[in-house]
Amino acid sequence: MLYPRTAATGTGNNIVSLRAGGLIMEQPRKTILVTGASSGIGRAITTLLLEQGYRVTGVARDFSKFPCHDQHFTAVSMDLSDLDKLPGQLEDLIRNEPLIEGVVCCAGSGRFGSLEEFSCAQIRSLLDLNLTSQICLVRTLLPGMKQRGSGNIIFMGSEAALAGGKRGAIYSAAKFGLRGLAQALRQECAASGLRISIINPGMVKTGFFDELDFRPGETTDNYILPEDVARAALLILEAREGTVFDEINLSPQKKVIRFPKPGED
Ligand SMILES: NC(=O)c1ccc[n+]([C@@H]2O[C@H](COP(=O)([O-])OP(=O)(O)OC[C@H]3O[C@@H](n4cnc5c(N)ncnc54)[C@H](OP(=O)(O)O)[C@@H]3O)[C@@H](O)[C@H]2O)c1
Repeated sequence: MLYPRTAATGTGNNIVSLRAGGLIMEQPRKTILVTGASSGIGRAITTLLLEQGYRVTGVARDFSKFPCHDQHFTAVSMDLSDLDKLPGQLEDLIRNEPLIEGVVCCAGSGRFGSLEEFSCAQIRSLLDLNLTSQICLVRTLLPGMKQRGSGNIIFMGSEAALAGGKRGAIYSAAKFGLRGLAQALRQECAASGLRISIINPGMVKTGFFDELDFRPGETTDNYILPEDVARAALLILEAREGTVFDEINLSPQKKVIRFPKPGED
């Protein structure tokens, strides 16, 4: 029997819910796969989901920046942009974690500039990570989810998935692609009980901008926090069965972009 997660405390792999009459009931934790879990938005989603009683399997290349010792967290180190190795690594992942009930695809990176500033190899590398790896990941998870008749798939789009802008051709191409993928899968998988969603944030204050020559303005209404995006992801996961948040667009109150001089933060 299932009880609301609110009155729960974690023990082992289960949540123990205490009813008013003193009867203890157990509710299994749901496992959510979060890519890009080592930093920024993926890390905030991981932290919130663990707090809310989920199990999280996190994927990234380097977890040294997120040493999470929660017993319900499993870190899987993987370079998602290595498409030759990816199918084998994903098969290993679902062999170890056959009951993945949701995935939040956050791994990604941004490079910006005029199209002709990118070599073909750079273009391919950006599209491999920001688009193709996510298609491959979801393709691997779909058969199990369809068999169980349920599952949540959340893509991390961007405001760049809603409108193209100067110097953003490759990034927008990937994010428009993700949004098209989300819309197509939404239609394709509805009858199987799967819920497909995309979140499109404006500028979020994360390490995403570390290697870039621009970043959001400094006041709190110039940026979104990764925790804000995490709450949107939780809203999607916890939507009433039979309903779907197709798309959530989230932006800072005021759009201010800074171009710091070298050495200046
Ligand atoms: N920040 C923003 O303003 C913003 C706005 C809209 C959308 N987004 C999107 O949100 C997502 C997360 O970005 P963020 O802001 O949280 O940036 P972030 O802090 O730089 O996080 C990026 C995450 O992706 C992982 N990652 C990068 N390359 C990877 C690879 N080859 N294989 C596996 N994992 C890889 C990183 O982990 P490792 O380095 O350890 O591999 C890290 O965990 C991205 O898809 C981004 O496009 C960001």
